[in-house]
Amino acid sequence: MRDVVPISVGAAATGLILREHNMRSRAERLSAATMETLLNTIDANDAVTGDHVRRVADYALILGEAAGLDERTLHSVERVALFHDIGKLHGALTDIFHESSKLTPEERRAVMTHPLRGAEVLAPLSAFYPELAKGVAAHHERWDGTGYPRGLKATKIPLEARVVSIADSFDAITHRRRYSHARSLNAAVKAISEGKGTQFDPDLVDLFLSRPVLARIERAMRRANSPQRKSAKRRRGQKNAAPDITFRWRPRSLGSQSRDRRP
Ligand SMILES: [Fe+2]
Repeated sequence: MRDVVPISVGAAATGLILREHNMRSRAERLSAATMETLLNTIDANDAVTGDHVRRVADYALILGEAAGLDERTLHSVERVALFHDIGKLHGALTDIFHESSKLTPEERRAVMTHPLRGAEVLAPLSAFYPELAKGVAAHHERWDGTGYPRGLKATKIPLEARVVSIADSFDAITHRRRYSHARSLNAAVKAISEGKGTQFDPDLVDLFLSRPVLARIERAMRRANSPQRKSAKRRRGQKNAAPDITFRWRPRSLGSQSRDRRP
């Protein structure tokens, strides 16, 4: 009897561990699927914003890696980058964002509501990702406290938002938008350097503008604009496949279908 009991206890424990592992795997997959669904929603409503947030996620992760952020924080940076502009999908703002003319003061005020609108959309996820809504709400805050919506200053601004803010500005300058032409890499470097300590976290700016980081950013920018990437995007749209650069930090065991796009 004494021999039998430990074996059955051992088998039960193994079964429990397996069941727990499976449940955790399912929970992680469900969470990734939820994020991908949200991203698909952005694509379906506004493909331009869908492309923008992917490029911003790419740049933000390069900066986050260079800053030595741990994997958990990098996940968090990626989520904030991917959903920072979800508030632009609000019905009150869609027409304004699709206008090609310059914004009127009233429209500008309406646009400035998008960080908080985004945070409201994402609020139900706060129990699982407490950093997400806060980071999205803060992505237009400025290091010197003159940003919006709350006028947060320096390290009171969540780290994710400080990283995303630089990546977002870089993409806004180097990529054509409805109301502005794309400008050169040098123009972006100049603008980010001028924003050091006023708009942006000075340490992050130094890192972003360092030679190795900027070289990676430049490669990522060229990749994002390459014809292969554009045709891959068209194929993705046709097959309704999973987004190509999202959630690359997903654990290996779950990520067999996702491609590792690390530069
Ligand atoms: Fe924004």
